[in-house]
Amino acid sequence: MYCSKIAGTGSYVPEGILTNADLEKLVETSDEWIRTRTGVVERHVCREDETTSVLAFEAALKAMEAARVGPLDLDLILVATITPDMFFPSTACLLQERLGATNAAAFDILAACSGFIYGLAITDAFLRSGAYRTILLIGAETLSKIVDWQDRNTCVLFGDAAGAAILQKTAGESRILSTHLYSDGSKGSQLMMPGGGSRYPISLKTIEQNLHRIKMESGNEVFKLAIRAIEEAAITALKYNGFDVSDVDLFIAHQANARIIHAVAQRLSLPIEKAFVNIDRYGNTSAASIPLALDEVVRQGRVQRGDLILLCAFGGGLTWGSALIRW
Ligand code: ACO
Repeated sequence: MYCSKIAGTGSYVPEGILTNADLEKLVETSDEWIRTRTGVVERHVCREDETTSVLAFEAALKAMEAARVGPLDLDLILVATITPDMFFPSTACLLQERLGATNAAAFDILAACSGFIYGLAITDAFLRSGAYRTILLIGAETLSKIVDWQDRNTCVLFGDAAGAAILQKTAGESRILSTHLYSDGSKGSQLMMPGGGSRYPISLKTIEQNLHRIKMESGNEVFKLAIRAIEEAAITALKYNGFDVSDVDLFIAHQANARIIHAVAQRLSLPIEKAFVNIDRYGNTSAASIPLALDEVVRQGRVQRGDLILLCAFGGGLTWGSALIRW
């Protein structure tokens, strides 16, 4: 009976940094408001010539190095993103070409901030089934390219980044124990980029109406929905595997707002030191947020073999989900 394990991680953030002080010059906001309401201090933003596949490539190289696999070992490349280089070819195909991973199939996953967890579920199923042996899974975003820089409700939240993981078939103890995915399309209007698809194809009118930018209906509503959904997903994952909150060594939630993470930890009675937070340095990087955090804790030596790691995401769609990992 085979399972899947994370064999290596990598991440990459562009060099450019946008501080809260920089944002004070763009919109009516303050460093104090952003810090206290979101936990974000600064975020990385890419140059005009940097694209999602560029960030993904750098993160992929590091994950492949950590897992000691070469491009020809890859059977499948998955990129979770809401900011692909273009609608098609997929960012995964662009990356396949750039890596020279000629044995790999490649496709993108569109599940907003939950994209990496959705990707883990897909990857786990492929590896368990025996269809593939080695998969490169990436969450990568250049949200700075679709943010409305005049909307203070959203522009202070986001950042650009990529996080990658190599997953392999295993029969060992270190493995993904479970994944659970959820969606609620009835609340899709809460977070969207309406323009550019078949409903509102790009035109002068859609650009004048700013439909090619991120829209958030009610930040406060998303905030409350996220807390409830992440809490439920966490409890379900633990119950499914016969664990209690006290068994969790590390909790990595999607980094949307430090207050969301603190609220979930409190509701779960999870000691706050077990909840990883790096939103202060990166902002909300959507599908990149969880693999970026995972790579940080791995490289900091904060996870040890045998640790129980709980990953939970929530995002546009709405989508949410969990993955429980025995490291
Ligand atoms: N600077 C100053 N004031 C601001 C800013 C800003 N950047 N943005 C909003 N405000 C104002 C609002 O206009 C509002 O003013 P009003 O009371 O005069 O109308 C006031 O601050 C409070 O607004 P709330 O929405 O009640 O503030 P809240 O405490 O909910 O914080 C926030 C807002 C940060 C957006 C929070 O709700 C949040 O993080 N929600 C989650 C949203 C999220 O993560 N979205 C990302 C989408 S994808 C994903 O990862 C889920």
